[in-house]
Amino acid sequence: MMSFEVAGLKFRNPFVVASGPATKHITQLIEAEQCGWGGASLKLAIEPAPYINLDPRYGWWKQEHYLAFSAEKRLTLDEALRLTEKGRRQTKELIILANIAYTGEKGMDGWLDMARRFVAAGAHGLELNMCCPNMSFNLKVSGEQEHTAQSGASLGQNAEIVGMATKIISDAVDVPVFVKLTPEGGRIAEVAQACFENGASVVGTTGNRLAIPEFDIHDPKRGPFRFQVEPSVACFSGPWVKPLALRDVFEIRKKVGPVPCILGTGGVRNYVDAVQMIMCGADMIGICTEVMLHGFDFLSGLLENIDKFMDRHGYNSYRNFRDLAVEAIAPADKLTLEQVYARVEPQLCDGCGCCERIGHCYAITIEDQKAIVDPRQCTGCSTCQNVCHAGAISFVERG
Ligand SMILES: Cc1cc2nc3c(=O)[nH]c(=O)nc-3n(C[C@H](O)[C@H](O)[C@H](O)COP(=O)(O)O)c2cc1C
Repeated sequence: MMSFEVAGLKFRNPFVVASGPATKHITQLIEAEQCGWGGASLKLAIEPAPYINLDPRYGWWKQEHYLAFSAEKRLTLDEALRLTEKGRRQTKELIILANIAYTGEKGMDGWLDMARRFVAAGAHGLELNMCCPNMSFNLKVSGEQEHTAQSGASLGQNAEIVGMATKIISDAVDVPVFVKLTPEGGRIAEVAQACFENGASVVGTTGNRLAIPEFDIHDPKRGPFRFQVEPSVACFSGPWVKPLALRDVFEIRKKVGPVPCILGTGGVRNYVDAVQMIMCGADMIGICTEVMLHGFDFLSGLLENIDKFMDRHGYNSYRNFRDLAVEAIAPADKLTLEQVYARVEPQLCDGCGCCERIGHCYAITIEDQKAIVDPRQCTGCSTCQNVCHAGAISFVERG
C-alpha cells in the first residue's frame, strides 16, 4: 500500500473520505478505518449554530451522472468536537481532519477559537471550509439580499481573506492546515497560491458546484427533490463534476509548481478517475459521492487496480505519474493538428443520412443510399464519426 506523508501527518494511503454525510458519525469513521482509508474529513462544523441547517434532501440523477443536494444537516461545534474525540479514541490509523467554518460576528477570532478547540479535541489536521456553495453563495445566486456573513464558496473566492485566515490559523496551531477551495469566481489557482504563501500545508479542491437539477417542464414550480416543495439551486457532485475538478487541480498545480500538496476531490469513483486526478497534479484524493452511494469498501479494489496500473508502467510511486497530464496539456495556440479527411466504408454505410445532416458540415452528401465525402470540404472535425451509428467512417491522412 502506498503511504503518504505531508507536514508530519502519515496517511496509510493518500485516499480520504471527503467531508460529507459519510463522516458525521463514529461508526462511519470506524468503518473507514477498517476499509483502509488513509483519512477522513469530518462533516462540516459551523459556528455559531444554527446556520442553514436542514434535514438532508439528496437526489441521484443516475443517467446524468450527478448527485445533487439542496438541504443538508451540519454538525454543531459540540457535536463535531465530540466526534473528533471519539474518532481519535476509537480509530488508530485514520487521520482525522476537522472541516470547519465560522460565520459569526467575531470574524477571525471566531475562526481561531474554533481551530484551537478542534486541535484540543485531537484533530490531526484542520480543513478550512472555503468551498461550500450552500451557505451565503446559495442565497446570493438565488437572489436574496446579502444579509448573512460571507462563508463557504463566497468567502473562498477572496484570496486576501482566505490567505489571512490561513495565516492566522496556521501560525496559531501546531497541526497542519488544509484549505478546501471553491472554483466559483474563477480564481481558484490564485487563492490556492495565497493559501500556500500563508502557511497552508495542503490545498483541497473541489467542493460541490452550484447548479440547477433536471426538473419537470409540466410542473416547473414543483421541486425535483423528493419531499421538498420548492425547486432550488442545488450542490452537485459525482462523475458529472470530474472534468471540472480535474481542471481545478491542473490549474492549481500549474500555478503553484511541483512542491505544494494538493488534495483533489470531485467525481472520483474508480482507479482510472484517481489516476487522472493524480496525473492532473493531485497528491491526495478525496471521495464523497461514491462512498455515499456504495459504502466504504470499494477502496481496496481501487488501490489494487492502481497497483496493477503501476506494475504495467513500471512506476514505483504515485509521484512517478503525478503531473503527467499537467506536462502534456497544451494551450490552444500550440496545438498540432493532424491533417486528415473522412472516408466512408461503403459496405458498412446504410445511407441513414445522419452524417449529411450535421449542421456545420458541407463535406458529406448521400448518393444512391451511401454517404460520399468531398475531401476538399472536410476539415477533419470528426463529428461524422461520432454520429455514425454504423461505424462506417474512418479518417485518412492528407497526402
Ligand atoms: C451531501 C454532501 C454533503 C457535503 N458536505 C460537505 C461538507 O460538510 N464539507 C465539505 O468541505 N464538503 C462537503 N461536501 C463536498 C464533498 O466533500 C466533495 O468535495 C464533493 O462532493 C465532490 O466530491 P465527490 O464527487 O467525490 O462527491 C459534501 C458533498 C455532498 C454530496
